[in-house]
Amino acid sequence: MNILVTGGAGYIGSHTSIALIESGYNVIIADNLCNSSRKTVEQIMKITNKELTFFQIDVTDPESVETIFENCEIDSVIHFAGLKAVGESVVNPLAYYYNNIVSTLVLVNACRKYDVNRFVFSSSATVYGNNKIPFTESMDLLSTTNPYGETKAMSERILTDIAKANPDFSVTLLRYFNPVGAHESGLIGDDPNGIPTNLMPYITQVVKGKLKELQVFGNDYPTSDGTGIRDYIHVVDLAAGHVAALENLSEGVHVYNLGTGKGTSVLELVKAFEEANDIRVPYKIVERRHGDIAECFADVTKAKRELGWATKRDIKSMCQDSWRFANRYKDKVALRNGN
Ligand code: NAD
Ligand code: WQD
Repeated sequence: MNILVTGGAGYIGSHTSIALIESGYNVIIADNLCNSSRKTVEQIMKITNKELTFFQIDVTDPESVETIFENCEIDSVIHFAGLKAVGESVVNPLAYYYNNIVSTLVLVNACRKYDVNRFVFSSSATVYGNNKIPFTESMDLLSTTNPYGETKAMSERILTDIAKANPDFSVTLLRYFNPVGAHESGLIGDDPNGIPTNLMPYITQVVKGKLKELQVFGNDYPTSDGTGIRDYIHVVDLAAGHVAALENLSEGVHVYNLGTGKGTSVLELVKAFEEANDIRVPYKIVERRHGDIAECFADVTKAKRELGWATKRDIKSMCQDSWRFANRYKDKVALRNGN
């Protein structure tokens, strides 16, 4: 089976491509490399010891997308490609609405034209807004606080309407919680450009000495230690969730939370990172970050029941694997020096 993975050179897409290849699928990646590199595509082939097909294209471009459908017999699409920086989306909403909405429209249009009826979409827990925890799939969605989140909520609505009007079209919407960690090889992982905005890559850059200290955004939330609580999920578990979703695709629209169901506070994550890697994370408490919610974790019973999927990796392995990847070049230098 040929699976078109848009954004397959990115953080979650690359780990999912590995999981797909290891499950026997042929992977065709379409990525414009705006937030990734060709090197990651090579690393996927190195890790799996299998070939894949790579198209460096923009998935907002109908002609490029249709060339893929014309030349490869696509069975299913997993649509990861998108811009994902919350702060940037506030500054440049047009780029976010254009890229994230048009890519979805162009892909679905090609699917309809080439009779491809299996579509999995990367959504986000951000669509729940400031709902009551744990977040369950049946909740009414509250408005998100930024254009990025709106593009996810809008894409969900677009895909739902299309699936309703075309009963042969199967759509699965996957709402990810907070992906962290990296492949155990240390060859691929989360490699954001510039100063990271997410907690785990910020921690690894502090520990590497690239940034002075972690700023903990607020310790006056109504949580156990006052810091924000999130549901961190290992990216390899998240990747396995995509294979399960693909294998359970059925007519209509199905929505699943992909998380662990457990909340971890910022200070708990800092402590876990220190213990897992025997290293200190300097931090200071600062003001709350605008737009943050106190607590967010998933109800994961639906994914367990219907997809037969659950996470396997704990916070310790998330911290160890994140650090192994972030520290990869140091390892190379050590190897060259015979250490
Ligand atoms: P990423 O930036 O690492 O990967 C996205 C990939 O899409 C990149 O390789 C980028 O080059 C590519 N891309 C972007 N626009 C494109 C376009 N128009 N044409 C072709 N390629 C394009 O991000 P990620 O963390 O792997 O996220 C993957 C998906 O999951 C995104 O849709 C993101 O919004 C969603 N998501 C991510 C998180 C998270 O915290 N990482 C959480 C929830 C949802
Ligand atoms: C986690 C916790 C912060 C950085 C974002 C997006 C969401 C989704 C995942 C794509 C919070 C605290 C963080 C720092 C800190 N992405 N923190 N110091 O905000 O839960 O979710 O990424 O869909 O849409 O909004 O993740 O990693 O930024 O923050 O104290 O330097 O860490 O306040 O409590 P968030 P995050």
